[in-house]
Amino acid sequence: MKQTQEHPPLKEHHAPLEEDHAPLKELDEWDDFVATRYRQGKSEEEFRNYKADANPTVTEFYRQNHKYQTLDFVLKKKAEYCVLKRGQNSIWEMADYLNTLVDDSDPDTDVTQIEHLLQTAEAIRKDGHPRWFILAGFLHDLGKVLCLYGEPQWAVVGDTFPAGCAYSDQVVFPEFFAANPDGGKPAYQTQYGIYEPNCGLDSVHLFFGHDEYIYRVTQKYLPEQAQYMLRYHSFYAAHRHGAYRHLMNEHDEALFEWVRKFNPYDLYSKGRERPNTKEILPYYRELVSEFFPDKIDW
Ligand SMILES: [Fe+2]
Ligand SMILES: [Fe+2]
Repeated sequence: MKQTQEHPPLKEHHAPLEEDHAPLKELDEWDDFVATRYRQGKSEEEFRNYKADANPTVTEFYRQNHKYQTLDFVLKKKAEYCVLKRGQNSIWEMADYLNTLVDDSDPDTDVTQIEHLLQTAEAIRKDGHPRWFILAGFLHDLGKVLCLYGEPQWAVVGDTFPAGCAYSDQVVFPEFFAANPDGGKPAYQTQYGIYEPNCGLDSVHLFFGHDEYIYRVTQKYLPEQAQYMLRYHSFYAAHRHGAYRHLMNEHDEALFEWVRKFNPYDLYSKGRERPNTKEILPYYRELVSEFFPDKIDW
């Protein structure tokens, strides 16, 4: 796997190894599962049958995700990554770095990580949306570099949910929460848990993953609508099912309109033709440099 000098070693640390913490053959297996779950035209009733769409590796992935993402874990990872002390890199360096994730897979059957980002962004561009919206499409999964930092898959991808309060019945594989140690803490299992009614999502700790990380990295360079798209794009229980509104404030409600606008591009752009990377790259180079300095903190 390609690794440049300034990047940290691939496996810095790992969760205990009594079980395989990389059940997915590649991270995209989770994305594909979500896209199937919300296949266009699928009824709510069909959606409820999501288990039929999950293969054993996806099921095992959720088992681990629901078991290990405790409030303590989320706070620890936020403290570790949201301070952005892993060095300065350009967006492009990190996009190249992320691309090393798929080195082992067959390039003919699968789009690379950069291609998924470009496909999403191109679909947004074709619909005539503003430049920051296109940029959000291009950036939205860059946080998956967490996997290259050595984080287990269950701490990188997966639907996000609030930790520290009762789990919604709108979530996938809710039975797996039974193994989460937070389930044994009554203070975390009331409707509001550690939060105040309608406190606003900014003070709610969602399961940690690539969404929160890329939001933190890019926050100060993007308009707020784009920040919401990045931060909450995997919060399906909220943006697809209307769960957790008791924790959202009016500002969240208003901004979620943009999260919902963004979601179909993330879900459904994959089936489209492969982007002509060479042809469109100059456009994206200009777009990125319009919003970002050469190097930013990661
Ligand atoms: Fe994502
Ligand atoms: Fe995505």
